[in-house]
Amino acid sequence: MSSTSFNAEEHKKMLRSYFNGQGFQRWASIYGNDKLSTVRNTVRQGHAVMMDKAFDWLQQLGLPKGATVLDAGCGTGLFSIRLAKAGYKVKSVDIASQMVNKAKADAIKEGVQKNIEFEVNSIESVAGKYDAVVCFDVLIHYPAEGFAQAFHNLSSLTKGPIIFTYAPYNNILAFQHWLGGYFPKKERRTTIQMIRDADMQKAMASEGMQVTSREKVSWGFYHTMLMNCSRK
Ligand SMILES: C[S@@+](CC[C@H](N)C(=O)[O-])C[C@H]1O[C@@H](n2cnc3c(N)ncnc32)[C@H](O)[C@@H]1O
Repeated sequence: MSSTSFNAEEHKKMLRSYFNGQGFQRWASIYGNDKLSTVRNTVRQGHAVMMDKAFDWLQQLGLPKGATVLDAGCGTGLFSIRLAKAGYKVKSVDIASQMVNKAKADAIKEGVQKNIEFEVNSIESVAGKYDAVVCFDVLIHYPAEGFAQAFHNLSSLTKGPIIFTYAPYNNILAFQHWLGGYFPKKERRTTIQMIRDADMQKAMASEGMQVTSREKVSWGFYHTMLMNCSRK
């Protein structure tokens, strides 16, 4: 996909608006406990499988208790809360205030709010230094150029690993099904973006990062590539 016309500010504006509106309703119900259609339920289940795997990878790093983790694009805070329960110090950032409010409310319910600092901000602008960065199902909304920009900022925030997902440029049919089922027609074009492996490798190499593990997660209508990368 050509990204010459990519406008970072416009793209962020569109994502902020979507995830504060219809996107919030859609994704908060998938990430919550609402009764779902069979198809949407596979997305919930696939997302849970991805998070379990990512959590295992993080635990395997053997970071000390109290290590800091940035959850970039935290959504409703599912992973942030899990991290906080496991003793990590978490910074949870999302571009959509609706998402951050929900994440904060759930953290309070779970009694872990003291271990999480919330911020409404974009992954391109968030600052700080963290022992690890996680970023799930966020970069799937970026074309190659935007992906590289976002990845550049994320990699400046840690000397440790970045565990993230992206939508690889394959399985087109499966993605079309996924998109068709979960996004309103006018949002489909901009909501999920498949990245060619070469573009992903280039973005990573220019930050001095390399892939340490990767795992494709395909579960019903949920398809994503889970990546674990670290400094060379
Ligand atoms: C599909 S949800 C995934 C949420 C969460 N990471 C999870 O897996 O449960 C995508 C999230 O990314 C957030 N997002 C999209 N673009 C962002 C950006 N540039 N900076 C920060 N958050 C962003 C959205 O607001 C939304 O909450």
